[in-house]
Amino acid sequence: MAALIAPSILSADFANLERDLAAIGTADYAHVDVMDNHFVPNLTLGLPVFERLAQVSPIPIDAHLMIADPDRWAPGYAEAGAASVTFHAEAANAPVRLARELRRLGARAGLALRPATPVEPFLDLLPEFDMLLVMTVEPGFGGQSFIDGTLPKIARAREAVSAAGLDVWIQVDGGVSRSTIERAADAGADVFVAGSAVYGAESIPDEIQTLRDLADAASHAH
Ligand code: DX5
Ligand code: ZN
Repeated sequence: MAALIAPSILSADFANLERDLAAIGTADYAHVDVMDNHFVPNLTLGLPVFERLAQVSPIPIDAHLMIADPDRWAPGYAEAGAASVTFHAEAANAPVRLARELRRLGARAGLALRPATPVEPFLDLLPEFDMLLVMTVEPGFGGQSFIDGTLPKIARAREAVSAAGLDVWIQVDGGVSRSTIERAADAGADVFVAGSAVYGAESIPDEIQTLRDLADAASHAH
């Protein structure tokens, strides 16, 4: 599959979110980080703001919920128009029930793993999901450096997805830039979140295209 680029608006100007969503119009998804100051030590935005973002975004929204009790809150993001809703395995009580509910509401269902959470307990459940998010930094903040120790997990996830013939996307999030995206793509990721790399670039469209090209070249090298 061709690489998909999902810039994270965590690195956008929060006083100009509509403008900064328009700025990433050539990307595949707008990645929106929802943090509740409980699951992670940071607070961003919730449903009322998210609903407006979904109304004005020129591209589909990929919601990344770094929140406690996603069983209760995640369906609202699907109802608000998220194309994809990803919740954390560490926070969910009934991940399969929740994934089924998200799909029923018309969203893609994503399962996220913190860097220290093993993928193995979830491999048999992957058919219930549309995407697996392997966090490549500790969730909570933009601008952190990529953790290379997550690469073997990406590779094991890719192997399991291929072996089972599944169409589950593998997303990486955190520290993704020109200098790290090839390693992630080579390990088997196909959806790339990048916050500071995209919003900090001189030309946002050029940066999106460069990241896409680097990822495509690295994955086709297999
Ligand atoms: C971190 C968020 C990321 C963040 C990535 O917890 O989930 O989406 O915006 O930022 P960068 O690309 O700057 O590491
Ligand atoms: Zn994120």
